[in-house]
Amino acid sequence: MNEVSSLKINAKVSDAVNFYRGNDPAELVKKYGSPLYVYNESILREKCRELKSLVEYPRFFVNYSVKANSSLAILKIAHEEGLLADALSPGEIFLNLKAGFHPEEIFFVSNNAGDEELLYAIEKGVLVSIDSLSQLARYGKLNRGGRVAVRFNPGVGAGHHKKVVTGGSDTKFGVNAEYIPEVKALLEEYGLRLCGINQHIGSLFMTGEPYVEGVKSLLDIARQFEGLEFIDIGGGLGIPYRKQDGESRLDLASLREKLSPILNAFAKEYGGNIAFKMEPGRYIAAECGVLLGRVNSVKYNGPKKFIGTDIGFNVLMRPVLYDAHHDIEIYRPSGAASDKEEKVTIVGNICESGDILAADRLLPEIHEDDILGVLDAGAYGYSMGSIYNSRPRPAEIMIKEDNSVALIRKRETLEQLLTNQVVTDTKNG
Ligand code: LLP
Repeated sequence: MNEVSSLKINAKVSDAVNFYRGNDPAELVKKYGSPLYVYNESILREKCRELKSLVEYPRFFVNYSVKANSSLAILKIAHEEGLLADALSPGEIFLNLKAGFHPEEIFFVSNNAGDEELLYAIEKGVLVSIDSLSQLARYGKLNRGGRVAVRFNPGVGAGHHKKVVTGGSDTKFGVNAEYIPEVKALLEEYGLRLCGINQHIGSLFMTGEPYVEGVKSLLDIARQFEGLEFIDIGGGLGIPYRKQDGESRLDLASLREKLSPILNAFAKEYGGNIAFKMEPGRYIAAECGVLLGRVNSVKYNGPKKFIGTDIGFNVLMRPVLYDAHHDIEIYRPSGAASDKEEKVTIVGNICESGDILAADRLLPEIHEDDILGVLDAGAYGYSMGSIYNSRPRPAEIMIKEDNSVALIRKRETLEQLLTNQVVTDTKNG
């Protein structure tokens, strides 16, 4: 274990879970560069285990929704913990297979897929969920007599922002229950066997009510089909992003108390050996990740104080895309503790004024060369990053259960910006 020599200014949240396990965040940045995604293996494993025991039912399975974080090291741990996996694209199927998931452990929840995508899944032996009548016909032509799942819209939606609500009347997702006769007709026309139905009402709810409502509605839909092997009740379980303000957690115990009797009663009524699945992404991956970045400038524009960092929205997109809040900790490689708090706006290095990580945030005074820790960045952080402004992607490291640190993805290089570029002669003639 390394000795922590930098000063942690406001690190109550990461200290409470022993996030760095004796490693010094400033030293990690020195060694692996900045910005840097840091994951904690034991927190990841703990989250996998919490959800595996969410429902008291023998055939309850957790599909990790890998869009949240599809780094191989994370996928492998989820697999080791006995989770199954969701995929939203051939790329995610490919990565899941590389991480060791078997085709039958992967569920491709497709949306507006072309023939190539569907054929990729079919050829790999991965079950596909279809979310419109037109896609069901397309799939039927490609996989006559095959197995399929259908994603329904339970008429209930939830989420932290309208962009991530995926159930209810205002979304592109799922088949509405009124089209069940058409679904049945298409299944018959193409000889498809409906082995499961699924839903996903949206991302990040902090109370179980909308989820339970969605589940009840999906079970009503399930009653209209015979011989289902599974019902997938979706993901969306939220995590508290405002821990520094004491935000409470989603009450898993109460969700368990509500869901278990509903699912058990349904299983009894429905017969067979029905399985239930859920597909959480954020709950599994968010809290095991912190994004470290460096403060490169401190300046005033008028009355506003700007903290200029290397954490642009190419690295973490959530604040810009959804006005999402991430708690921020300050680690000071050297110098004295801050003796006052002030309101600052923390920005990145991308050439857009909207490149704001935190607006008007009250924090202990931040100094140039401080390292900032952006908390709960494990989900939809790296996976939504880009190379906008031609900035190579950051590295990712994992703090292992034995406190050692492993590089799990190298920082991209400038040379990699040329990958796949084909330069032709632009001169006429
Ligand atoms: N299943 C399906 C079909 C999904 O579309 C999603 C997320 C999940 C499961 C997992 O949802 P979770 O448990 O992670 O909430 N980029 C946004 C979140 C978008 C989620 C998209 N779909 C964010 O950063 O808040």
